[in-house]
Amino acid sequence: MKFSVSASIAAVAALLASASATPLTPRDVFVPPILYPHAGTVWTVGQRHNVTWDTSDAPVNITNGKGFIMLRKAGLTTPVILQNNFNIRLGRIEVTVPWVVDGSDYQLVLFGDSGNFSPNFTIQGSGLAF
Ligand SMILES: *[C@@H]1O[C@H](CO)[C@@H](O)[C@H](O)[C@H]1NC(C)=O
Ligand SMILES: *[C@@H]1O[C@H](CO)[C@@H](O)[C@H](O)[C@H]1NC(C)=O
Ligand SMILES: *[C@@H]1O[C@H](CO)[C@@H](O)[C@H](O)[C@H]1NC(C)=O
Repeated sequence: MKFSVSASIAAVAALLASASATPLTPRDVFVPPILYPHAGTVWTVGQRHNVTWDTSDAPVNITNGKGFIMLRKAGLTTPVILQNNFNIRLGRIEVTVPWVVDGSDYQLVLFGDSGNFSPNFTIQGSGLAF
């Protein structure tokens, strides 16, 4: 047990050493603002919509070019993934509105390098609210 622990520590140390020895190209953090949904948007469960974001400031080299979108409610990020593994340069991606309780305090968070929140918007259609 002791041996395998120190062996894995050595393996991690070797990995870190080789990673830091790899020459890195300069890359920029890109956190594009969400354009849609915006304040006042109303989505109905089951509909499909294009989430859009501003790519006009996209740097040439992006640290993390893959995006994913999660749902927030009441100021907290939920575990609901709306879309994953898309190119952050696309500027839009189609999502299906999930079957969630009605509310006017939903937000999206678009992750590339770090998260950017949409304004609060409404999801309706389940008939359930709390
Ligand atoms: C982008 O990366 C390329 C190589 O991958 C490099 O030659 C270039 O200088 C980088 N550009 C910027 C603006 O960082
Ligand atoms: C989303 O955008 C794509 C590309 O413009 C379009 O083909 C598609 O119909 C749009 N989807 C919706 C739900 O509007
Ligand atoms: C969205 O709503 C939450 C909770 O209702 C609130 O804490 C947050 O400040 C609101 N965000 C914006 C951008 O209005």
